[in-house]
Amino acid sequence: MADQQKLSSRHLLGIKDLNRNDIELIFETAANFKAVLNRPIKKVPSLRDVTIANIFFENSTRTRLSFELAQKRLSADTINFAAASSSVSKGETLIDTVNNILAMKVDMVVMRHPYAGAGIFLSRHIKAQIVNAGDGAHEHPTQALLDAFSIREKYGEVIGKKVVIVGDILHSRVALSNILCLKQLGAEVMVCGPTTLIPKFISSLGVKVEHNLIKALNWCDVANMLRIQLERQDIKYFPSLREYTMLYGLNKQILDSLDKEITVMHPGPINRGVEITSDVADSKQSIILDQVENGVAVRMAVLYLLAGQI
Ligand code: CP
Repeated sequence: MADQQKLSSRHLLGIKDLNRNDIELIFETAANFKAVLNRPIKKVPSLRDVTIANIFFENSTRTRLSFELAQKRLSADTINFAAASSSVSKGETLIDTVNNILAMKVDMVVMRHPYAGAGIFLSRHIKAQIVNAGDGAHEHPTQALLDAFSIREKYGEVIGKKVVIVGDILHSRVALSNILCLKQLGAEVMVCGPTTLIPKFISSLGVKVEHNLIKALNWCDVANMLRIQLERQDIKYFPSLREYTMLYGLNKQILDSLDKEITVMHPGPINRGVEITSDVADSKQSIILDQVENGVAVRMAVLYLLAGQI
C-alpha cells in the first residue's frame, strides 16, 4: 500500500460524500486489509502517530468495537468517549465536548450521535476529520460499505444484483446509506415493509417499493433484514410486533419455499423471532457474521484512506 490514493472527501459523513471510484478504492484497500487480518501478525504500522477519538453518544456494540479494533490493527492511538459517563450529563455542548478532546491533539473523530446531521454540523466547526458512525435516522456509511463489500465478496460483483431491504425503512440510517451505496455500484434495490414504515420520498432514490414480503423475496438475490427501530418511534406504526412478524418476519419455511437460494443479511443487532428467526439467522444462507468480520477491514480502509489527507 505504498502509493496511497485519496478519497474525494476529507470526511466520511455519508455515502453522499463518495463517488463510485471512492467506493471501489475503499473495497480494494479493504480486501488487502482483510488478507492482513487473516495473517498470524494482524497489525500494520500504517496509522502510527495518528490519534483517533471514538465519541459515542448512542449505544453500539458492532460499530464501536469494529472501529476500535480497526484502529488498533492500524497502530493508531485511540481514546474512547461514552456520553453517558461524560460531562455531557452536566450540560456541556457537542462543540465544547469535541473541542476539549481535540485540544488533546486528536487527528480524527469517529462519532455516533442520535441526531441526524450531527457529523455535518461538527465538520463545520472543528478542524479534525470526522467519520460518521451513525447519525440518527440519516446515514451509517461504514455499515453500507461493509454490506456492499460482503455482497461483492459473495457474488464477485454488486452490479446487477437485486437487493431487497426489509423492515423499518422510515427510521433506518442503514437503509438510506445502503440504497445510496448499492445504487452507486449498479445494483437494483427494492424496499419492503408496511406502508407506514416506507417514506414517501423513497421512490425518488430509484428504488422499487413492495409491500408483500414473499413477492420481494422471490424477486431478490439478497435480503437485508432490518430491525424495527422502536427507540426512534414516537407513535405506533403497526398494531403489534406479533402482526409485524407474521407479515414481514423471515422464517425458515418461507426461505425454503422460494424459487432460488437467496443470501440473508442483517446489520445487527438482531431481534430474533421478530424480523428473523434463529434458524434463518444461523443458516448457511446467512452472511451476518461475514458482515461483522468485513466491518473491521472496511473500517481499516476508510481510516487509512482518510488519514492520507491529514
Ligand atoms: N450495525 C450497527 O450499527 O450495530 P451497533 O448499533 O451495535 O453498532
